[in-house]
Amino acid sequence: MAPRTVATRAARLTDAGAIATIYNQGIGERVATFETRERDAEERRAWLREHDERHPVIVAEAEDGEVVGWASISAYSQRECYSGVGEATVYVRRDRRGEGVGRALMASLVQRARSAMYWKLIARIFVANVASRGFFEQFGFREVGVLEKHGKLDGRWIDVVEVERLISENICDRPSKRVRRQRQSSGGRTRGYRS
Ligand SMILES: CC(C)(COP(=O)(O)OP(=O)(O)OC[C@H]1O[C@@H](n2cnc3c(N)ncnc32)[C@H](O)[C@@H]1OP(=O)(O)O)[C@@H](O)C(=O)NCCC(=O)NCCS
Repeated sequence: MAPRTVATRAARLTDAGAIATIYNQGIGERVATFETRERDAEERRAWLREHDERHPVIVAEAEDGEVVGWASISAYSQRECYSGVGEATVYVRRDRRGEGVGRALMASLVQRARSAMYWKLIARIFVANVASRGFFEQFGFREVGVLEKHGKLDGRWIDVVEVERLISENICDRPSKRVRRQRQSSGGRTRGYRS
């Protein structure tokens, strides 16, 4: 089957119902998230209001305008030192998986991460979530390691794989002011600098 066209755009409050439906499919499958509580449009509207330019939610629209997937970047940590690390999430409606919807969402997500000056995207994926592991790998996410018994789902311990992708354009290797000053004063001869 020829791949269908997929457009992505920033989510609107009116997308809340479709986003809830798609999320609930993932919740029901018990392989994508520790969440077990189903969401509704009202709850997702409130969730959307918490997001902003820096923590975007985007949706994928099919040719007929239906929302067939969503993705988001949420804060990895409240600590300032991790401000450039975002957690990526992608969910595609079950009947539209395997058609490039996730690919379009991830491409847009990485682009937004780049513009918002994130230096890294991470995700935590259930070890058993083969589709998601293949998906993230396809987009250059490296499997860092397995977090053993990271949480319980329906009373059973779940191991998760931590994955990361550096946003190379936002990693500035320019030496710090201190190193530049040292170099100037030593005529360019500096020893290795350790932060
Ligand atoms: C993971 C998920 C988002 C992938 O979305 P998708 O639209 O089906 O993916 P695409 O069709 O765009 O596929 C892109 C690439 O991902 C990989 N991929 C997708 N499905 C895969 C599968 N079942 N097994 C292995 N790799 C897979 C492939 O490399 C694929 O590239 P290819 O088609 O050139 O081989 C989708 O399966 C999903 O919504 N799963 C449930 C929710 C979830 O687990 N989300 C992840 C938690 S954040």
